[in-house]
Parts: sequence; structure tokens; C-alpha cells
Amino acid sequence: MNQILVIDDNKGIATALEVLFSIYDIKTLHAISPQEGLRFIQSNQIDLVVQDMNFTEDTTSGEEGCKLFKQIHSEYPDLPVILLTAWGNLETAVELVREGASDYLTKPWDDTKLMTTVNNLMELGQLRQQTNSMLSQKTSIAQSLSQQYDLCDTVFNSSSMLQTMTMATQIAHSDIPVLITGPNGCGKEKIAETIQANSSVKEKPFVRVNVGALPMDLLEAELFGAEAGAYTGAQKKRVGRFEAADGGTLFLDEIGNLPLSGQVKLLRVLQTGEFECLGSSETRKVNVRVISATNANLLNDIQQGTFREDLYYRLNVIEIKVAPLAERVDDILPLALYFMPQNKTLSQEAEKALQNHSWPGNVRELENVIKRASLLASNDHIRTKDLGLPEQAAPTIEKTVSSEPDKEQLIATLLRSRHNISQTARELGLSRQSLYRRMDKFKIPRD
Ligand SMILES: Nc1ncnc2c1ncn2[C@@H]1O[C@H](COP(=O)(O)OP(=O)(O)OP(=O)(O)O)[C@@H](O)[C@H]1O
Ligand SMILES: [Mg+2]
Repeated sequence: MNQILVIDDNKGIATALEVLFSIYDIKTLHAISPQEGLRFIQSNQIDLVVQDMNFTEDTTSGEEGCKLFKQIHSEYPDLPVILLTAWGNLETAVELVREGASDYLTKPWDDTKLMTTVNNLMELGQLRQQTNSMLSQKTSIAQSLSQQYDLCDTVFNSSSMLQTMTMATQIAHSDIPVLITGPNGCGKEKIAETIQANSSVKEKPFVRVNVGALPMDLLEAELFGAEAGAYTGAQKKRVGRFEAADGGTLFLDEIGNLPLSGQVKLLRVLQTGEFECLGSSETRKVNVRVISATNANLLNDIQQGTFREDLYYRLNVIEIKVAPLAERVDDILPLALYFMPQNKTLSQEAEKALQNHSWPGNVRELENVIKRASLLASNDHIRTKDLGLPEQAAPTIEKTVSSEPDKEQLIATLLRSRHNISQTARELGLSRQSLYRRMDKFKIPRD
């Protein structure tokens, strides 16, 4: 049950409020002086304070109320306070709202208006609690992950990345194949490194092959090796990457680019560990864990006939998805700080611009933007213009289509805007209607 503390020397006012609040199932505590009020806050769970501005008979300056509010607000900055004021103290009340009081009502107050304010503040308080508990849960999971595992300097603060990292570290010790999917530059290779660093074969070789970067005709020789003279220009015997990775991990980047003939060979190695070098009939056997990555939609490629379905199911016994950076806004600033030289700082507008950009090139783009801005900035303070990002309007439109805010983001934005629907919708790049739909979906109460 919610509990409101009324601090007022007038018993009549306290009783009237108590009756009103009880209709809404809210319990009222009554303190008759600022000192008693502060004691009550210390020893009770209070969700909201309604306070008078004058407590001593014959005083009308509002000074006592002002002092009380400031004391409450400095000790309990999250506790909402409504000021009850006479006409004479209106200016002081307005000033205090600027300093952080939630609202002021003139006596005699309007019950409906008071209850609307009270209910809004209570809801906001609940949302804040939910967010706080989610955040502290998140922090403790992240902490225990970094204590238990080598996270390879992966920087993250979003729930989505926390899930990804948790999964990567949990499956690291087994030798099953992993497929890492996600758009360009989102950190797929970082995840692959993390898996290797926490695997039972971490001391063994970690061999990378960028399948997309090799010419088709060299790819098979690169992967499986070639005897001298196996193809034109092959003067020496060439050790394939599978052999080089024996006992360890082979990271096949951009696996979607592997031609069908290579896919057949790869499938066989995955099934039996066996393969032949180009130009040799001798069968070799290796024990290699395969981690592959792609930014393509392999299911589409299967339908197009350019990727083998049986290989797909071999490679993605476990799939780890890395979300685009625009969908993990909470990662943007920590990553920006990570990429920035220590003597540099970001202006507030620059921080906002970074958070609003749609990052089609993901973390790699962010890294480049920050490194360039650090060089270009005229002093140690990086401003929006140093970032060289396109005008803000475009990313917002982009955001509406591409990024879907999660519950936590919604709550955080609502809290930041003090439950202002228009502002929240604008910040998330949504229409009011679509914001309401998402609030309903996540069971976040409307006003
Ligand atoms: N969470 C992170 N923390 C720190 N650095 C990161 C993080 N994610 C990505 N990076 C850095 O960003 C760059 C791009 O990441 P990475 O190469 O892992 O992406 P990718 O998904 O493999 O990209 P591509 O699709 O182009 O192969 C790298 O320099 C990487 O070290
Ligand atoms: Mg990569």
C-alpha cells in the first residue's frame, strides 16, 4: 500500500487529505512540524510528501516550508514533494518547483487535480523502482561475468549485449560449433575472441580466415592446404588453416561467401574431422572447433540455393545474435569513452548526437567517428561538429524503422521526461500512438 506523509501544523487539513487519500487506498501519516516530518521520513517507507509552507503561527513568509523542502530534497532527491501553499507564497513555491519540487497546489486545493498529480507521481515512483532494480540486477550480472570470465575488453552496458556476452561465456567451454550473426562492425569477431578466451582450448591456436576476402580459387588451398604444384603458382607445400588450427579454434568470418564446392568440404570436416589437401589423396584428420560469423541472412541464401542447408545446421548448433548498435543505445557512450584518448571529453550535445545517430556501420563506425573527432577537435573538448555526423533528422526517421526500443529503454526515457508522452515519443522516434501501443505491450501504465 502506498504511503503519503502530510507535514502540516493544521490538523484539519491533514484529516481532509487522509480521507481523500483513503478513497484511493493510500495510507496517510501526519507530522505537525518540519522536525517531526523529517523523523517520519527517516523511519518509514514514504512514497510522497505533501507539505505546508508555514508552521509557526503568525508566520506567512514561507521560509520554514522552503527550508524543509530543501532538507528533504537534499537527503532524499527521489522522494516527490507536493507543496501546499497560500496565495502569498506562490512565488516561493514556483521557485521550489524549479529546484525539484514535484508540484504546488494553492489552498483550498482541487481534489481532482491533487489526485491526478498524486497518482502520476506514484506511478512514476514505481517505474523508477522497477528501473533501479533492473539496473542493479544488470550491474551485478555484469560484475559477476567479468569476475568469472575473460571478456576481452568488450565494452557493454545494454541488456541485449549482456545477454549476448552471458551466452558467449556460457557456451565457451564446450566444443560445439557456434554461428555468430549480426550486421557489419557490430562486434562479431569480439564475441568469437571471447568464446576462444574462455574455452578449454584457450592456449591452443585461434586461427582466423576471412572467407569473404579471399579469391575463390585460393580459398580451398587456404582452408585445406595444398601440395607443391597443386595449382599454378603453388611452388611450395601450403599448410591449410584447418591444420594450423588443429586442437584449437578456427574462426570462419563471412562464411556466407564460401562457394558451394568449399561448403561440401567444410561439411565433411565438420562431420568427420577429415579432409584432403589440394593435390593429395592422403586423408588428414583434425580436431578443430569451428566458430563462424556472417552478416548475411543464411536462410535466404539457402532458399536461393547458394548455401547448403545441411552445412547451415552443422554450423549453427548454437547461434549468437549481436544486435545492431542503434538497438543498444546504452552501449554507445561507454564505447565512445573507450575509443577516446583519456585527455578528451565529450560535450553534452555531442553525447546526444552520438545517441541519436543510427550507426549503419555499428561499433566500427563509432570507433572511426570518435578517433577522427579526437584528432579534429580544436581542444580537448569534442563537440557535435567535430563528430561530422549527418543532420539529426535523418537518423530519427531511420530509427523509427530500424530500432525497436525495449522495455528498459522505454521506462528510462519516460523517467527522464517525467512521464511526458510527447517528449518520450520524440526521443524514441515514435508517434504518440505507437508509444502507447508499446507501453501497453510492456504493461507500463498510461496516465
Ligand atoms: N563491445 C565492444 N567493445 C569494444 N570494442 C568493440 C566492441 N564491439 C566491437 N568492437 C570493436 O569494433 C570493431 C568492429 O568489431 P568486429 O570486428 O568484432 O565486428 P564484426 O561484427 O566482426 O564486423 P564485420 O561484420 O565487419 O566483420 C573492432 O575494432 C572491435 O574491436
Ligand atoms: Mg568481422
